[in-house]
Amino acid sequence: MKKLLALVLAALLVFSLAACSSGGDTQTADTGSTEAADTAAETATVANKDKPLVWFNRQPSNSSTGELDMNALTFNENTYYVGFDANQGAELQGTMILDYIKANIDTIDRNGDGIIGYVLAIGDIGHNDSIARTRGVRAALGTAVEADGVINSDPIGTNADGSATAVQDGTLEVDGKTYIVRELASQEMKNSAGATWDAATAGNAIGTWSASFGDQIDIVASNNDGMGMSMFNAWSQAEGVPTFGYDANADAVAAIAEGYGGTISQHADVQAYLTLRVLRNALDGVDIDTGIGTADDAGNVLSSEVYYYDEAARSYYALNVAVTADNYQDFLDSTKVYAPVGNQLDATAHPQKSVWLNIYNAADNFLSATYQPLLQNYDDLLNLKVEYIGGDGQTEANITNRLSNPSAYDAFAINMVKTDNAASYTALLSQ
Ligand code: BGC
Ligand code: CA
Repeated sequence: MKKLLALVLAALLVFSLAACSSGGDTQTADTGSTEAADTAAETATVANKDKPLVWFNRQPSNSSTGELDMNALTFNENTYYVGFDANQGAELQGTMILDYIKANIDTIDRNGDGIIGYVLAIGDIGHNDSIARTRGVRAALGTAVEADGVINSDPIGTNADGSATAVQDGTLEVDGKTYIVRELASQEMKNSAGATWDAATAGNAIGTWSASFGDQIDIVASNNDGMGMSMFNAWSQAEGVPTFGYDANADAVAAIAEGYGGTISQHADVQAYLTLRVLRNALDGVDIDTGIGTADDAGNVLSSEVYYYDEAARSYYALNVAVTADNYQDFLDSTKVYAPVGNQLDATAHPQKSVWLNIYNAADNFLSATYQPLLQNYDDLLNLKVEYIGGDGQTEANITNRLSNPSAYDAFAINMVKTDNAASYTALLSQ
């Protein structure tokens, strides 16, 4: 009965909040503490299938078509995805490279043949973030080929003479002069054991590519900084060839001072917060917007400039920012909490809860050097005791084997190896 009353009250509050946002904060906070006490008492009896669940970084989806896996995204009423706006980021990435070419047109064409050549390191051909980035680069540089309204994101292998069919030669006019833009080579960076976004593979690839293309390569583009930095260190820094990545990992941002062309911040500081925050809210039994779009009792709140929520997809998306020579100084510390959501929650109103969380590949630069340290900063602020599991990036079983006792946790945060594999996790929670 008391539970029912609280639910009715919560529903009423949601309505009154929607109608009038002033004065709503304190009311939400009050409901929060009552519900939190209830939840603490009930934890032992909550079935695993009803516990809060957040997918992050890899959105449950079909790896061939990109179609969202709505079964996984609506596994229970407290299931969400946290990632970033892949298309907005991809567009920024492409534009950043194009702007660089235009600004450096006098020196960019290293061999002076009128062709601006670039190579592209692709992360995971079945990962929607990777697909978006490949498309963003090709769209901006005029090398994209469309079929049925979508840009082909296939790797081309090598394309010395411009005859590849998955891309085309682009044309670029700057200061009255017309250049050809050519994707000389692209490849999925997957190692022999199956790990994708593999930095070492990219480092080897640039060795092969530079041996055959030499000074035909004017730009190195990468779907992430892990691979980008590997190519920069192996070849492009010494050659003075601008290299562009994605993620704004600390080493990549620092390398901008040494000639790295630029990167994109996917606002990991906001994503890591959201990843844990949606769990915290569900465990507290408060409105999901608490501490997100609506300030919580500690003053944590995000503005719509850094994220948005897509209700139909149950997905929170952080917005991206380009990091170049103009602004990189502001991004040197990639593991710093985002100040507007850096306030400690009160431990009485938000008692400690335990969370099981995995990183799909402990060797992934972005997830291990940027995302996890951020999570570790936020877990203290949100009074969450998180067990971090690092996978091998190859098989789901390597991770699911370590989720043998879901009953020991209050909530789950999952980073799949392959976006199609949500069921391997939900099956364990449904038993
Ligand atoms: C990141 C990559 C990372 C991948 C892993 C992407 O969002 O940008 O750096 O390797 O996620 O899933
Ligand atoms: Ca050239």
